[in-house]
Order: sequence, then C-alpha cells, then structure tokens
Amino acid sequence: MIKEKGFFLTIEGTEGVGKSTALKFIQNYLGQASRDFIVTREPGGTPIAEQIRQILLAPCLTEEMLPETELLLMFACRVQHIHHVILPALAAGKWVVSDRFVDASFAYQGGGRHMDMTYLEILEKWLLQNLRPDLTILLDAPVERGLERAKHRGPQDRIEQEKIAFFERVRQGYLKRMKEDRKRFRLIDATQPLEMVQIELKKILDEICVVRGRAG
Ligand code: TMP
Repeated sequence: MIKEKGFFLTIEGTEGVGKSTALKFIQNYLGQASRDFIVTREPGGTPIAEQIRQILLAPCLTEEMLPETELLLMFACRVQHIHHVILPALAAGKWVVSDRFVDASFAYQGGGRHMDMTYLEILEKWLLQNLRPDLTILLDAPVERGLERAKHRGPQDRIEQEKIAFFERVRQGYLKRMKEDRKRFRLIDATQPLEMVQIELKKILDEICVVRGRAG
C-alpha cells in the first residue's frame, strides 16, 4: 500500500479521556495553519463502515456478538475506510486525522477481549500492508476517571457497557502497543487540566508542521 505525501495522524485512548475535545483542538489548529486536512473516525468513515458501526455498537442485541465477529467487523470497516478515504486523501497530500485506527483493535479486541494477537497481526499485515499512522497521540488516564466522564454523555453503547476490568485491559493494551512502537506514539496524560493537554497537543502539532514545512 503506497502512502504518499500526506500526513496520517491518529488519536487513541479509552473511554472518556477527552478524544473529542482534543480532535476539535487539532481541527482548529490545522484550520488556522491553513493545512489541507480531513477528520474521520473508526469504526466508520465511509457509508458502509458507518452502517457496520451501528451493528457494532447497538446495545440491545438479542444475540451475543462473538469477539471474532467484532474483530472482523472492525477490520471490515477499516479496509473500506483505508481504500475509500485514507489513501485517496493522503495521495492528494492532505492530513488525515482519524479518531482511532488499528491500535484500537489491538487494545480493545486484543487486550479487552483477549483475542489471540496472531490473528490481529495477520489481519493487520493482510489488510493494511505497510500503512501505519505517521504519528499516534495516545490520551491516557486511569480507567475509572474516564468512565466517570463518559457516563455523563448519555446512553451507553454495547462496548461502553463493558466492565471496568475490560477497560483496564484496553488501557494496558494501548500502553503495550506504544512500547512496541515508541517512535510513532506521543503519550499525553489526560488527567491534566485541559489547558495543559492543549499545550502538549500544540507542541506536537508545531513539531510536525516544522518538519513538514511547506509540504502541507
Ligand atoms: P468511539 O466511541 O471512540 O467512537 O469508538 C467506538 C467504540 O469502538 C469504542 O468503544 C472503541 C471501539 N473500537 C474497538 O473496539 N476496536 C476498534 O478497532 C475500533 C476502531 C474501535
């Protein structure tokens, strides 16, 4: 898979760590810096993937969703997203800012659901080939704190209804994934006051813009 010119930025974290607020900040920053960018998300980002997202997150299923089904649907969404949104935007020289990407599968399905990492690695190799985010921002906070915040957002989806131990494994899954690819990740302590988180975000974005210079 050839990734040209653009910049692929992903943002990750467990529930309630402030991803949406961080994304708004990134969006404003890139707008003010006159960068050509798109903001997208997983699971989702294309009409088919958004429909699969509804199946994935619907809370009142009369049938239990098996971890295998969940994993395959996540990757089904991803492959649509990569081919119809991410690669074309990168090829056009744009920034692609994605609210979650493949690291989420390693954290949620690998860590949270105890899926054998071998299957994830096979799917990653097969469907992503060598596509990786250029940079991944991981917002990290103790799970209870995040869940407390998320509770106030309204009705919980199927995954949000999981127990605290599940999200603890997800958090550890993210941290493990970060340790395996330190250069790509930037860790932000999401328990800091919002202004501090935004200072760190700005620093990261400034650095990327300096390196990329006029490239976009
Ligand atoms: P969101 O709430 O950040 O939009 O994400 C939807 C949910 O999907 C969230 O609970 C995380 C979960 N998820 C996975 O379990 N695996 C994945 O690969 C992705 C992208 C998301």
